[in-house]
Order: sequence, then structure tokens, then C-alpha cells
Amino acid sequence: MTQVKAPARVVVLISGSGSNLQAIIDQQEAGTINIEICAVISNKDGVKGLARAHNHGISTRILNHKQFDSRESFDKALRETIDEYTPDLVVLAGFMRILTPEFTKHYLGRMFNIHPSLLPKYQGLHTHQRAIDAGDKEHGVTVHFVTAELDGGPNIIQARVPVMEGDTAEELAARVLVQEHKIYPQAVGWFADGRVKMVDGKALVDGNPVTF
Ligand code: GRF
Repeated sequence: MTQVKAPARVVVLISGSGSNLQAIIDQQEAGTINIEICAVISNKDGVKGLARAHNHGISTRILNHKQFDSRESFDKALRETIDEYTPDLVVLAGFMRILTPEFTKHYLGRMFNIHPSLLPKYQGLHTHQRAIDAGDKEHGVTVHFVTAELDGGPNIIQARVPVMEGDTAEELAARVLVQEHKIYPQAVGWFADGRVKMVDGKALVDGNPVTF
């Protein structure tokens, strides 16, 4: 008798458009990744990502960081909200918050982020403009495990795009976004299948260390 593995329980955190969330939903609905999206949590009300979740019957929660008096108290409430859903994996998809070390420690090895640069290049904001200003010929996007260091956890997968002569940051961002929508669902699917793990501070895919 073949055993069917239960879908991995996933909670997605967003702050905005949620196009990466949509890409993950689409792959889940297509049956290519074995996950259940238990909830989408936003720190901003009224954002498009919440509407995307509603359209697909996914529970949503809003936790407005402005209603908390410290980063610690927000992160504590966020952690409690997330853990109501007992997720296997927490997916940061355009979640625009700096996280406390307590929070990142709690989800170590089970929280992903997507960052629009070829990490370790260009941690932080304005990555596309910084790549253009540096005269880079190549730019891209990285999915990585989240650690206490901002955009600093071990890389899982990257995709590269060319930087074209005369590119604006918007044009480059759009080119990168197409790749984001491919590699983020892929990485989430790997996790669901037990193919990606964080061991001793390194990402392993199919047991092999990721070396970029
Ligand atoms: C993406 O560029 C992602 O790499 C970055 O924030 C943006 C989120 O876009 N972390 P969306 O909300 O998924 O459309």
C-alpha cells in the first residue's frame, strides 16, 4: 500500500501585494506542491495579498504592528498567532518587518524568506537600484532560511537574470519577480517533501550542502 504524506502546514506572512503568495497558492492548487496554507497573516490591513487569500478561501489574520508598543510585544503576539495554526513552515513573502532574535530562534530551520538579490549581495532595501548603480551584469533573487541576521540565513535556491543596458529599477524588479514566482513555490515544495533542511547553520538540499 502506498503511503500518502500529509500536506505540510504552511503559514504565510505578507505586508503587501502578495504576488509570491499567489504563486505558491497556484502551485498548491495545481497539485505540484504538497502543502496546506493554513493562514495568511498581514501586518497591514487592506493589502492585495489579503484579497488573494480570501479569493482562495484561506483564513486571514491582521496584526497591525502600530498597535504594539515595542518590536518585542508585536513579535510575541505574532508568534502566538502563527502557532495557533501549528505550522511546519512559516513563509515570509514580502513581509516588511525586522524580526527579533527570539522570534527567528523560535522558527529556526522552519522559516523561509525571499529576497530580491543574489545574497549575500545587497542585504536590506533598494536591491535593484543598488545592482544597477554597481554596474552589475547579473542580478537575481534568493530563497533562504531566516536567522537572526537580516537577509543573512543560509541560501536554499537562487535565480539569476541579466541586467540590461538602461534598465530602470522597476524594469529590473519585474524581471526578477518572474523568477521569484518560480523558485519560491519550488523551495516550499522541497521543504514539504523533506528535501530541504537546515543542519548546523547550513542549508542541505537532498542531503547536499548549498554552496552559493
Ligand atoms: C518581492 O520582491 C520579495 O522578493 C520581497 O518583497 C517583494 C514582495 O512582493 N521580499 P509580493 O508581495 O510577493 O508581490
